[in-house]
Amino acid sequence: MKIQSCCFFFFLFLFTNTISLSSTTNTLQQGSSLSVEKPNDTLVSSNRDFSAGFFPVGDNAFCFSVYFTKSKQPLVVWMANRDQPVNGKYSKLSLSKYGNLILTDAKRKKSPWSISNTSPFPLQLKLRNNGNLVLETVNSNVTVIWQSFDSPTDTLLLGQQVTEQASLISSKSEKNYSTGFYKLYFDNDNALRLLFKGPLLSSVYWPAPWQLPIDAGRSTYNVSKTAQLDSLGHFISSDAFEFFTSDYPKRVRRLLKMDHDGNFRAYSFNEKTKTWEVSWQAFPEPCSVHGLCGENGICTYHPVNGRTCYCLKGYKLKNGNDWRQGCEPEFKPSDLSCNHGESFGFLHLQNMELYGYDLKVVKVTSVKQCQQVCLDLCEKCKGVQFKFNRDSTYDCFPKSLLVNGRDSHNIDGDVYLKLPRVTLLDSTMPVKHTPMKCSIENSSQTLNRFYEKPSKNSTLSFLTWVAYGIGVFEISIVFFVWFFLFRTNKNHGDNVDQIQRHLLSATGFQRFSYSELKIATEGFTKEIGRGGGGVVYKAILDDDRVAAVKQLNVADQGEAEFLAEISTIGMLNHMNLIDMWGYCVEGKHRILVYEFMEHGSLAEKLSSNSLDWNKRFNVALGTAKGLAYLHEECLEWVLHCDVKPQNILLDTNFQPKVADFGLSKLLNRDERVSSAFSRIRGTRGYMAPEWVYNLRITSKVDVYSYGIVLLEMVSGKSPMEIHSLDNSGGIEHQRMVSWFMDKVKNAPTTMVWIEEIVDGNLEGKYDVNQVENLVRVALKCVKDDMNERPSMSQVVEMLLQSHEKVRGQPR
Ligand SMILES: *[C@@H]1O[C@H](CO)[C@@H](O)[C@H](O)[C@H]1NC(C)=O
Ligand SMILES: *[C@@H]1O[C@H](CO)[C@@H](O)[C@H](O)[C@H]1NC(C)=O
Ligand SMILES: *[C@@H]1O[C@H](CO)[C@@H](O)[C@H](O)[C@H]1NC(C)=O
Ligand SMILES: *[C@@H]1O[C@H](CO)[C@@H](O)[C@H](O)[C@H]1NC(C)=O
Ligand SMILES: *[C@@H]1O[C@H](CO)[C@@H](O)[C@H](O)[C@H]1NC(C)=O
Repeated sequence: MKIQSCCFFFFLFLFTNTISLSSTTNTLQQGSSLSVEKPNDTLVSSNRDFSAGFFPVGDNAFCFSVYFTKSKQPLVVWMANRDQPVNGKYSKLSLSKYGNLILTDAKRKKSPWSISNTSPFPLQLKLRNNGNLVLETVNSNVTVIWQSFDSPTDTLLLGQQVTEQASLISSKSEKNYSTGFYKLYFDNDNALRLLFKGPLLSSVYWPAPWQLPIDAGRSTYNVSKTAQLDSLGHFISSDAFEFFTSDYPKRVRRLLKMDHDGNFRAYSFNEKTKTWEVSWQAFPEPCSVHGLCGENGICTYHPVNGRTCYCLKGYKLKNGNDWRQGCEPEFKPSDLSCNHGESFGFLHLQNMELYGYDLKVVKVTSVKQCQQVCLDLCEKCKGVQFKFNRDSTYDCFPKSLLVNGRDSHNIDGDVYLKLPRVTLLDSTMPVKHTPMKCSIENSSQTLNRFYEKPSKNSTLSFLTWVAYGIGVFEISIVFFVWFFLFRTNKNHGDNVDQIQRHLLSATGFQRFSYSELKIATEGFTKEIGRGGGGVVYKAILDDDRVAAVKQLNVADQGEAEFLAEISTIGMLNHMNLIDMWGYCVEGKHRILVYEFMEHGSLAEKLSSNSLDWNKRFNVALGTAKGLAYLHEECLEWVLHCDVKPQNILLDTNFQPKVADFGLSKLLNRDERVSSAFSRIRGTRGYMAPEWVYNLRITSKVDVYSYGIVLLEMVSGKSPMEIHSLDNSGGIEHQRMVSWFMDKVKNAPTTMVWIEEIVDGNLEGKYDVNQVENLVRVALKCVKDDMNERPSMSQVVEMLLQSHEKVRGQPR
């Protein structure tokens, strides 16, 4: 009996399968439909990259979606009904006899999604090879009636554009695909922006909200409002924003995604590991995204522990599952009112920023004065942001709400939190509640959408049982297949190893074994460089990539400490920084694996005189961008400390990439002042006076070294050569600088000093305005007083200005 019924189901299974198999095509014809109940009722693009069908998004909940199928996990790239999933029974997508495309839910009368036919011709629904789902006419003149590329959800594929109508909106969380809080869109002023739009609060957070578009390098004059990524990895938007992915110009499958964590990222598909890897992101510092920790919550980020939230002292988490709802006061809000007399105090919180909800902005001369401003505002003021300005004044921002809080070493500002004195003095209340992982990703619930049973009917109930049986049988087949695959995987130890090795691939780098690198470098024989704490070898990796392998002399560094530093460096991602592919930590070996640069270093190219003026200028600009990123866009403590031409490498297009960054110890604030930098770092000739006079080391040491590199690029003379030109004495680090200063100051006209300074090898082929600007910028960078030096991002701006001035001039 058992065997018989088993056979019966087996035949049924075969039968359903043959019907399903016949439907693996890329088109749906008029008068046919795809059913949610048949897993194989999908459209498959003819290159088999994409499928379109019902995708499970919860318990008995499905969304009609296009998904990429070449990856280990299918990746949804578009959804028709992300906010109204349909029932797992009786729901279907039909292309009607009259050409209307309709998604129907089991019992709901109203369709959650539909497209009406506007053409007199017969239609078909086709899934194209690029992932575009198109409703088009079937005649000699194919016309597109509707396409999924025009209404993206959170993903942009190659060939697809962001436009005024087509913005990207993130999903709620990793598992909940419904419309989330973050939006990439073209604003009314034609600028491309990122917006946080929560249920209660909303704000633009990219480009930096306190910047004018023009200061962020954006143009507001082009009304075309389009942006797209090409297959080489170049993104360009009509507001002049552009970026190159870290793997540019490799031709790979790519996509852009408005991620649920508020970051906007570019991904490249790794054919080997079958995973999508991040190749660019808008925020290396994830706390800069708004709305993460809610009201009265503070976001903090650590490269190893990730992003976490905590509540300010006196406040507690409102909803244990959802940080977005923020924290609520543990005291009565009326406790902050003025009727309570003198019962408040202020809690000082360093390196903290709260953005938005300023009651006003007041220039003050002291903290006391700022606190008084807040006290005068009574219960309206919850605390103040206090900021030091360059002109030695302070800005005071009393806050009506404490939102978009972040806490990071690179924030130059303090918060004074207003609290009832009782709360302030309550030592049982921690200043920071123990940080925990932001649980935004946790907020997925299962969807309760049970299908109402139709009236009891014996035939139907028999069919239900049959369907049930098929279901059970298919599940067991799936289980078998899974079990079989799992077993085979286990048998290949290599495979598991492979997976472990690529665990870190989300950040783009992997762990190598020592033996592997020994083979790749032919036993560490092909030395290509030395210095900066180790020897560098050329290597060919087993996937044929050419790499530079650096063996560090760090004898006494623990594995955990090393890994922590490496994971920070591995997260840095900029077109003007050398890309780190991986590392090896085994026994006493500490090895870094970088991309190999065909053109070698700036030092070699300068001495062999193979750089014309344009190339030199581009190297100056790119290097500044790379350093600005190190100092300001990621964690400030990534100081380079050894900027020199030997550490600026050139790629095939002579674009500079800064190498050897991040090797100076990770600093935190206390160490910065004292121990970690007590030893002198850097290279003679390029070192800032702070090293010599034992002053506080800040990012301005790199600015100084960069200035010297600029002077060297203009003059073709290294600081050591100048040393021998000049016999006037003086402290060594100043000789190059004073040589230039003298020339600039004492020449009768600009033309005269330019001709005296510029590298004779350029044979007069250079742009006078650019040279002048470059030298003036360089001389600002090498000021003795570090406070007079510009920051690297200011340098980038100054260089870009001269660049544009020059380009704008008729020649
Ligand atoms: C679906 O189709 C694939 C081939 O396209 C086949 O391998 C698989 O067994 C089918 N599954 C079901 C449940 O019909
Ligand atoms: C094809 O269709 C488009 C849109 O309906 C129309 O503008 C165009 O003239 C047609 N071309 C031909 C050759 O019929
Ligand atoms: C506007 O942007 C588009 C797309 O980037 C570009 O093709 C066009 O030339 C721009 N127009 C102007 C006036 O700059
Ligand atoms: C997040 O989810 C995990 C498992 O799903 C659970 O153990 C944990 O408590 C959740 N965290 C929060 C803050 O809800
Ligand atoms: C996704 O989130 C929304 C809003 O929080 C919720 O209503 C819905 O049930 C969630 N869906 C799933 C599948 O968890």
